[in-house]
Amino acid sequence: MEHLPQQYRQLFPTVQTHTMLASCSQSALAEPVSRAIKDYHDSLLLMGTNWNEAIEKTESARNEFAQLIGAEPDEIAIVPSVSDALVSVASSLTDFKKKHVVYTEMDFPTVSHVWQALSDYNVSVIPSIDGGLPLEQYEAHITDETVLTCVPHVHYRDGFVQGVKAIAEISKRKGSLLFVDAYQSAGHIPIDVREWGVDMLAAGTRKYLLGISGMAFLYVRKELADALKPKASAWFGRESGFDAPYAKGARRFQTGTPAFISVYAASAALSLLNHIGVSRIRDHVKTICSDARQYAAEKGLQLAAQAGRQPGMVAIRDERASETARLLRKKKVICAPRDTAIRLAPHFYNTKDELRHAIDEIAAIFAAR
Ligand SMILES: Cc1ncc(COP(=O)(O)O)c(C=O)c1O
Repeated sequence: MEHLPQQYRQLFPTVQTHTMLASCSQSALAEPVSRAIKDYHDSLLLMGTNWNEAIEKTESARNEFAQLIGAEPDEIAIVPSVSDALVSVASSLTDFKKKHVVYTEMDFPTVSHVWQALSDYNVSVIPSIDGGLPLEQYEAHITDETVLTCVPHVHYRDGFVQGVKAIAEISKRKGSLLFVDAYQSAGHIPIDVREWGVDMLAAGTRKYLLGISGMAFLYVRKELADALKPKASAWFGRESGFDAPYAKGARRFQTGTPAFISVYAASAALSLLNHIGVSRIRDHVKTICSDARQYAAEKGLQLAAQAGRQPGMVAIRDERASETARLLRKKKVICAPRDTAIRLAPHFYNTKDELRHAIDEIAAIFAAR
């Protein structure tokens, strides 16, 4: 068995009985994360209150995420979801004269929903070409009137990965801020916000970050955060007191009490990920996905993205993807369908053989149609 799964599989009870390949939606629950959730529950049950401890866990989760993306803790806000992160960001740009926002056809639909609802903004949507987003498209769509450019690091449907650093260079040159949606990459692809020159970045905790729903992180570059005044503002984004000023750094993007149960889970989950190291995870996932893509081709399955563009996911074309996922679930193969693709999204606890097993089951379902 490969090195990483050999070392860590025993931490994941579900992988002992199921083929867990849905990290692009919800990864398997690790024992330390399960224990953290129980600790939260037990502290309320046995001690009646846990506010101070919960605030400490919030800081610990913040520190771990900062470490994961190469940021400082003061540059991280704890928010309820990636959608909320973007709403807060949008509410901080209303003072800017520039009202042009760029996003891409490969963004998760929530990005479009946020900007379409804010009728003050003119939006440009960069179309995808041959399943990618060529840099010339960014050059053409971002103008000196653009206040913000939103991009996905990894496409949610097929795992296509973008070179964020090159996009950041274009965006900066044109005077636009850059928001990166890293929900499909954080936890299995290394991120370095400083090195890439990113202004803002968000990721939720329930996918590759090994946590549960109810929580996301928003990175805002320190110097930028201190200059912004989000209109979606409330007490967790302020210094203390009734007339309190905005908190320093990215904390000002926070609103109310975080979902502490998710915070406990995230703190344990991120500590595990940082302990293992995301580069090791990327190398493992890339290797087993590359094998799986070749195996899928041998079995006559069609991939949803061009080879080499989806190192961390194997997305297989299927007009009846939801039905296929239901049939796979009966065989204890857990994966996440999306539109016309079956997404096989492994993590460090998965093996090459598990991916091959899922592909065999998919091929058998197709053959029986
Ligand atoms: C890339 C991406 N961005 C954003 C979202 C939405 O996140 P949230 O529900 O936390 O707003 C998802 C959810 O699947 C996603 O895959």
